Order: sequence, then structure tokens, then C-alpha cells
Amino acid sequence: MNRIDLNWDDNEVLPDRIRPDVEFLFYRMSRATIDMVDPKPGERILDVGCGRAIDIVNMSESGAMLIGLEPSFVMISHARETLKLNGQNTFVLQAIGENIPIVAGSVDKVVCKGALDHFADPGKALQQMALVIKPGGYAVIAIANFESLGFKLGKFIFWVRRILNIRNPYKRLPWEPPPDHTIKFSYGMLLKLAGQHLKVDKVIGVSMLSCMPGWGDLLARLPKNIASFLLKGFDRAARLLPGLSDVIVLRCVPALHTTINGPS
Ligand SMILES: C[S@@+](CC[C@H](N)C(=O)[O-])C[C@H]1O[C@@H](n2cnc3c(N)ncnc32)[C@H](O)[C@@H]1O
Repeated sequence: MNRIDLNWDDNEVLPDRIRPDVEFLFYRMSRATIDMVDPKPGERILDVGCGRAIDIVNMSESGAMLIGLEPSFVMISHARETLKLNGQNTFVLQAIGENIPIVAGSVDKVVCKGALDHFADPGKALQQMALVIKPGGYAVIAIANFESLGFKLGKFIFWVRRILNIRNPYKRLPWEPPPDHTIKFSYGMLLKLAGQHLKVDKVIGVSMLSCMPGWGDLLARLPKNIASFLLKGFDRAARLLPGLSDVIVLRCVPALHTTINGPS
């Protein structure tokens, strides 16, 4: 089992320069995840691997009661700052997703965004998430797709560059997972792993071509309205083609329960 990094800090992994494709990806990933969670007043929602608690602040606007879960003491202190700045006193548990210290069947919804590929045992964490959800509730999982169209095209571009003897400008190729990742998710692998404990009931893709070599630089040079048109157009395509999208967002019901409360 991999060790849990109790001092993990996103300041050390964020790129120095955020290109338009990455900025759009982060924005859409958060928006699509929160839309899928669809927080309602009074609901109890657990954010597993909540990081800085930015999604917690955004979801709290609905009147839902949020609980954060985060192992890293550094991220918990960032989360406390975010919550204080926004006048919120949401509770952040210091724990891991593989061992959720919450009573079974006690939360309406679980959200886990951009975090599962950092976990030592993602399968065990999905099993724990399934356990704490009430009948009628669901989990929303959002994760980067390492078999995206952008990465497939990127690999081809780099194959051509190698043949032409063009120097590789990257320290780490975008389709190689960073060292703090424990698993490289693809669409098929995510569905298979989630399917062991949860029944997947809705899937969408978010953004397309983000991080493809040259794409961010091209967008940065284009007039803003044209760049935005392209980003939104590819995002619409990604929605229908999650297997090729940059991020996959799943909504799933614990395998023991079969239905979701309210409209689908
Ligand atoms: C990339 S951050 C994502 C944070 C947040 N969900 C967001 O979207 O901004 C991944 C987070 O997962 C946390 N993490 C790593 N291993 C974990 C585990 N086993 N259980 C729960 N969280 C974990 C990390 O400390 C980190 O804060």
C-alpha cells in the first residue's frame, strides 16, 4: 500500500503559468461536478479529499450541510483559511477516504473531485463511500482521463517530433501521471473500479484537448472570443464522449440501493 502524504500541498504541484485550456478545464470540472451533485437545502454532503474546500464553499450556497474529509494537515489549514474567509464553519475531518469515520447510511451525497487518483487504495475508498450514503443518495466522482483525445493526439505529435529529431521541451510528458498519483485512470478502468461497489447511473465528459501540446499556446494567441468558442465547442463534444474527454464525471448509487431520490 502507498504511504499517505500528510503534508501534501497543492502549492507544490500547481503550474507557474495557467494557460487558457487549463483554466477552462478547472472551471468546467468544478461546475460540472457541483451541477451533478445538485446540492439541496438541508442535505448532508461529504466531500472526500476536499483540499482547499473551495467546492465546499460553493456547494454551501445551496443551504446544504457540508462535511470535508482530508488527510493532509497542510491542505486542512488551507481549507480553514478558505472557510474563514467565506464566513463558514464547516467541519473538516482529518481522515482518509479508505477509512471514513462516519456512520453508515448517514449522508445524502458524497463528492470526490480530482482526488481518487491520489488515494493509496481507490477501490477501498469507493467501497467506503458507498457505505456512508443513505438509500436514495448518490456519489459523484470526477477524475482526469489519461486516455483522452488530447493525450492520444499528443502522443502522436510526439512520435512525429521524435522521428524529426525535435527536442522534447517537457520535464514530464502530460500523459504521464505525476509522482503524487497512485493510479492512471481511463474511462474503462474508472467504470470497472466504481462498478465493484456502486451502480453508475450517469456519466458525462468535461473539456477536450486540454494539455495537448501546443493547444494552450494557440488558444492564448487567439482573440478571446474565438478561444472561448473553441473551448466551449469541444466541451460540448466531451459531454457526449466521456471516453475521449479530459475529465470524467460519474454519478453512482451504492450497489445495494437501486434508486435516486428526486429528478434524474
Ligand atoms: C488534487 S487535490 C483535489 C482537492 C479538491 N477535491 C479539489 O478538487 O480542489 C487531491 C486531494 O486528495 C487528498 N488525498 C490524498 N490521499 C487521500 C486519501 N487517501 N483520502 C482522502 N483524500 C486524500 C490530498 O491530500 C489532496 O488534498
